[in-house]
Amino acid sequence: MYTVRRATPADLDVVIELIARLQADPAHLIAFHGESVEEVAEELAGLRPDWVSGAVVATDRTGRVRGVLSIEVDDELHRAYLYGPYVDVPANHPAAAQLWQATADALFDRADRLPRMAAVTMFDMFGHRRNRLLADFAARHDVAVDKSMRLFALTGADLRALLVRPAGRSPAEDRIGLMSADAEVRAAVAGLHDRCFPTAPTPGHRLVADGSVHTVVVLRDGASGVLGYAAGVTQADEYYVDMVGVDPAVRSLGAGRQLVRRLLVELATHTGARNRATALIRLGNDASERMFTALGFTLHTELVSYRKTDHHPAADLSVTQP
Ligand SMILES: CC(C)(COP(=O)(O)OP(=O)(O)OC[C@H]1O[C@@H](n2cnc3c(N)ncnc32)[C@H](O)[C@@H]1OP(=O)(O)O)[C@@H](O)C(=O)NCCC(=O)NCCS
Repeated sequence: MYTVRRATPADLDVVIELIARLQADPAHLIAFHGESVEEVAEELAGLRPDWVSGAVVATDRTGRVRGVLSIEVDDELHRAYLYGPYVDVPANHPAAAQLWQATADALFDRADRLPRMAAVTMFDMFGHRRNRLLADFAARHDVAVDKSMRLFALTGADLRALLVRPAGRSPAEDRIGLMSADAEVRAAVAGLHDRCFPTAPTPGHRLVADGSVHTVVVLRDGASGVLGYAAGVTQADEYYVDMVGVDPAVRSLGAGRQLVRRLLVELATHTGARNRATALIRLGNDASERMFTALGFTLHTELVSYRKTDHHPAADLSVTQP
């Protein structure tokens, strides 16, 4: 059995290496993280207020880090995201699954007592469909399957071809551009976003706020109206198309496709070249899948998200526990 303790800044490099190594195996993959050392380092550095105060690690008898659970908390929504648990179990261990589950339980129990979990009422986990360890962990902790998602990707020459393709010069294409500072336009984007994605981790007012991490392109309707938008970010290794929403009145006319293409052009222009673009599509969202596959995206990974909506955090033992 491994020993669990709070993380320290000195653990960070080992943790990044551990996560990137386990991410290469679908049986351990957590979908909140990328697959390279650079991506994992960027993601942990992006956790607010910092990684270390929301992380716990498991160590073996020699003190070597063998497991980690990092938690990101959205204080406004009282919602947490579990980046893990990860447990590195020796391949030849006679009771590998039991060791994994026992360590994962201990990591979660300790993380749940961190001060930042105090007001959390809901949490999310997200893993590869073949991460059965995570599925079993979720079931034992009464965390329900939320939805099946599929990661679609466009890479290399296919991505470059999309970026340099001349614009269609359709009337709609001329009305797509970066979101302006106009308050009415921003309010319209926020409203459309909240109607399309009522439970999104980023609510509309945050998506359009100054300082938002997202780049947003908008299909305008007149001076201040909005018929559609697409929002994405550039990460260490890829462009990520996070959300696309089109007014129901003008769907199936090609607007979604044009918004995605324009978003990728803006990300490439302002944040530099990447070799891959990705998007997560909920299983059964046929319009979205058609939109992305028509642009050349292909299926890369099948994922499952889990959510607990009635969470009661354990007591904070930070005063008495290391
Ligand atoms: C997904 C969405 C953005 C697509 O916008 P759009 O402007 O209709 O996109 P496009 O017209 O470029 O492409 C949609 C394609 O799906 C097709 N389609 C629409 N409904 C469909 C369905 N139920 N089953 C299969 N295909 C469907 C359209 O015919 C079109 O394909 P075609 O041009 O080959 O005929 C829009 O439906 C939407 O806002 N949905 C709600 C939010 C959402 O789910 N966003 C995606 C997650 S990021």
